Amino acid sequence: MTLSKKDFLGLRNINCHEINEILETAKLMKYTLVKNNKKTSYLQGKTIVTLFYENSTRTRLSFELASKYMSASVANVSASSSSVAKGESLMDTGRTIERMGVDVIIIRHPLSGAAHLLARNVNVSVINAGDGMNEHPTQALLDMFTMCEKKGGIQGLQVAIIGDILHSRVARSNIWGLTTMGAKVRVAGPSTLMPPGLEDIGVQVFSNVEDAIRDADVVMALRLQKERQESSLLPSIREYSKVYGLNKERIALARKDVLIMHPGPINRGVELTSHIADCVNSTINEQVTNGVAVRMALLYLITRRRQNSNALYS
Ligand code: CP
Repeated sequence: MTLSKKDFLGLRNINCHEINEILETAKLMKYTLVKNNKKTSYLQGKTIVTLFYENSTRTRLSFELASKYMSASVANVSASSSSVAKGESLMDTGRTIERMGVDVIIIRHPLSGAAHLLARNVNVSVINAGDGMNEHPTQALLDMFTMCEKKGGIQGLQVAIIGDILHSRVARSNIWGLTTMGAKVRVAGPSTLMPPGLEDIGVQVFSNVEDAIRDADVVMALRLQKERQESSLLPSIREYSKVYGLNKERIALARKDVLIMHPGPINRGVELTSHIADCVNSTINEQVTNGVAVRMALLYLITRRRQNSNALYS
């Protein structure tokens, strides 16, 4: 096994062997999801805590279910109902959780770099479940897993990512992961929501959504993040949807077997029409299922790494 670090914080510095190992392990984990009895003993005796400072349905629940399917003990801490609301710092909260015999802390936080800060200050493994505008690495892993399943691999795929690239940690993690795995990434979105320097890392930037979608193997729409928008960056949601929203006419420009992806939650009629969200090419529901398999794989590999490194010193 190659997953070598204590923590899993992003895809920027992860190589293709490590990504492949997680995706291959997820393939095995997915078999357990279709069984009547989903319980395995892979994480028996381990304790996992989710520490969420932002709302979540998919990520938090899939980490929780992944832990339970592998027989770990799991507890959820949300900032709004914990001592964070009384002013406790991230570091003090992390160290408090660590002292209760926890093996892995999974954190979501509105500030970029928060997961890295926590990881530097605790001895237990930290997994980044989304930090501000920086990265959402497990989302990109489940997206890549879905592409592998449907297309047989990632190398050479033309992947168009459409929307608010500037605020999107999903876009950032996918760009790092997909380029590492040999895909060609194109992006399109309003110029006010496009970060500089993308061409320098091999990404093709289009101002016109039609040009980005033409002959694409995968079209990924991003959620318009109302919570991270400054008012002057977009004229209106209606105009955004008219110029960048995915509809039948635009998707017809892509390859016939195009995968239509979205990390969720979707804003129907904004990033994409309901027709497109629910059409046969849409993988939105499969992405959710694959999120559990990928998170099972990651938890399995990261706790095994700790077991192996503990064994060295025992
Ligand atoms: N895709 C994603 O991160 O969804 P949640 O915010 O529901 O976790």
